[in-house]
Amino acid sequence: MSNDARLIAGNEEYSYPVLSGSVGPDVIDIRKLYAQTGMFTYDPGFTSTASCESALTYIDGDEGVLLHRGFSIEELSENSSFMEVSYLLLNGELPSSAELDEFSRTITRHTMLHEQLATFYRGFRRDAHPMAIMCGVVGALSAFYHDSTDISDPVHRKISSHRLIAKMPTIAAMAYKYSVGQPFVYPDNSLSYTGNFLRMTFGVPAEPYVVNPVVEQALDRIFILHADHEQNASTSTVRLAGSSGANPFACIAAGIACLWGPAHGGANEAALNMLKEIGTPDKIPHYIERAKDKNDPFRLMGFGHRVYKNYDPRATVMQKTVREVLTALKVNDPIFEVALQLEEMALNDPYFIEKKLFPNVDFYSGIILSAIGFPTTMFTVLFALARTVGWVAQWNEMISDPGQKIGRPRQLYTGPTAREYVPLDNR
Ligand code: CMC
Repeated sequence: MSNDARLIAGNEEYSYPVLSGSVGPDVIDIRKLYAQTGMFTYDPGFTSTASCESALTYIDGDEGVLLHRGFSIEELSENSSFMEVSYLLLNGELPSSAELDEFSRTITRHTMLHEQLATFYRGFRRDAHPMAIMCGVVGALSAFYHDSTDISDPVHRKISSHRLIAKMPTIAAMAYKYSVGQPFVYPDNSLSYTGNFLRMTFGVPAEPYVVNPVVEQALDRIFILHADHEQNASTSTVRLAGSSGANPFACIAAGIACLWGPAHGGANEAALNMLKEIGTPDKIPHYIERAKDKNDPFRLMGFGHRVYKNYDPRATVMQKTVREVLTALKVNDPIFEVALQLEEMALNDPYFIEKKLFPNVDFYSGIILSAIGFPTTMFTVLFALARTVGWVAQWNEMISDPGQKIGRPRQLYTGPTAREYVPLDNR
């Protein structure tokens, strides 16, 4: 029996091939649907639509599984560095130690920014949200690095990918420095990727900065947890922007803009603000009731996910890391207790059980980042920094595909039909 999917529309029956990936649900290939039936499919939030083929990241949302190139996020976050995971995402295999050294050296060599980019920062108000600065400055890279923007050339694509991964920590740290009125700190290429970022963020020219290894390791792990996540909204934005052949730096700026929203990367900032607002465990029931109330727009931030209908595996690692960081830094943050109790109460509440709402990656990350010293406005910036490798890997995968086409969704039009124009004087 044919494995095709059959569609009956009116008196006609059509048949569409069913494609299988290496794992995960099959997909119905409807590329010929419009030509054959004159109809489109309708799926506004892409809830049932695969927008591309990809070999990078796999999520089983029911089982709470996340794999990068086949390796589990638990193993990667336990045993790898962010540089190693970046190499894996870009190249498909784990590096040998020589390959990892060379890759890290290459990234390190690109950490400095064109000096003129520093003048861009001064155009922003001091109280500008650092995500606004990130959108602007990353977009502006497209005006500086012309030698690597022939996207049909794999070498150019590689160089611009390396530049983006390398320069994001510098750009992010400068956004922070600008907001607190401190001088920019240049990269120190003797440090690790993450150690260098910490120094550029928290160091000052007046005194030496010593990287705390516990903080460095925890932040590196947070970067690993955010490195890629399949076809999420910002990644799909990068792909859609890139599908027209747009400049890679501009595409990543588009991804940053999308990530900023509170339903996506902005949730880490919103989650910590929510936990602070709740403040003490006795207020939790009130907020749970609000989250369940259909007439109240309030949602539990850091809870729920389009794909995970089980515990987000990144949240499990994140919760463990919170404990490690708070213990190592000797921080007693009462907000962590609020988070633990909120999680427990929500997971035992019929509303959250029935809707399969679990903590996601953003629920605990803010507590760690806050303990390290980042203000809440920087949380989504750190997400963007880490997700850049996923964005460029996905962008590269798309451009390398010989069958790639410009992304161009269709619509169900519900506006007026053609009508006669009435001149201004007659209206
Ligand atoms: N609190 C209360 N109710 C919720 C929540 C929540 N956090 N999330 C979903 N629901 C309810 C929602 O009201 C809906 O109920 P009903 O079926 O009665 O209308 C049902 O659960 C399904 O929600 P949805 O909005 O249709 O699901 P979605 O897949 O479109 O949205 C989501 C997923 C992540 C946007 C949503 O769960 C949410 O807004 N969560 C809070 C924001 C957040 O933590 N975002 C970070 C996501 S993970 C990291 C990232 O992607 O950047």
